[in-house]
Amino acid sequence: MSLKDAATRVRENAYAPYSNFKVGAAIRAASGAVYTGCNVENVAYPEGTCAEAGAIAAMIAAGDTELTEVYVIAGSPMPVTPCGGCRQKLAEFGKPAVQITMATTGGAEQVMTLAEMLPGVFNPAHMQG
Ligand code: THU
Repeated sequence: MSLKDAATRVRENAYAPYSNFKVGAAIRAASGAVYTGCNVENVAYPEGTCAEAGAIAAMIAAGDTELTEVYVIAGSPMPVTPCGGCRQKLAEFGKPAVQITMATTGGAEQVMTLAEMLPGVFNPAHMQG
């Protein structure tokens, strides 16, 4: 299944009763396996989690540790961009050249690399004493 189809399908399962904004994410890992996630909201709003975070958690739980491609889709007027926190989460597991495709259910797509998406990313080099 394509990343687009996987993200589109998992988006239907999003739990978003507070924002009514369903998001689906699909990640291809270096192994070739595809992992998906959707946003899961909570009545205590800050406890909600993004679709990208769910897909990353599924990847790590399955034993993969490197992502090579990401697809995110929402029913938005323009392609939905991962939030700042999710950019840092994606950067943890992907090389700077990894492409993130952001899409709308209406068919619009925009592609950016992780490096373009998060310039100045905080990384382990910053913690060397
Ligand atoms: N959301 C995601 O899941 N991913 C994004 O890239 C943008 C925002 C979710 C979080 C929340 O459940 C809803 O969309 C509205 O912000």
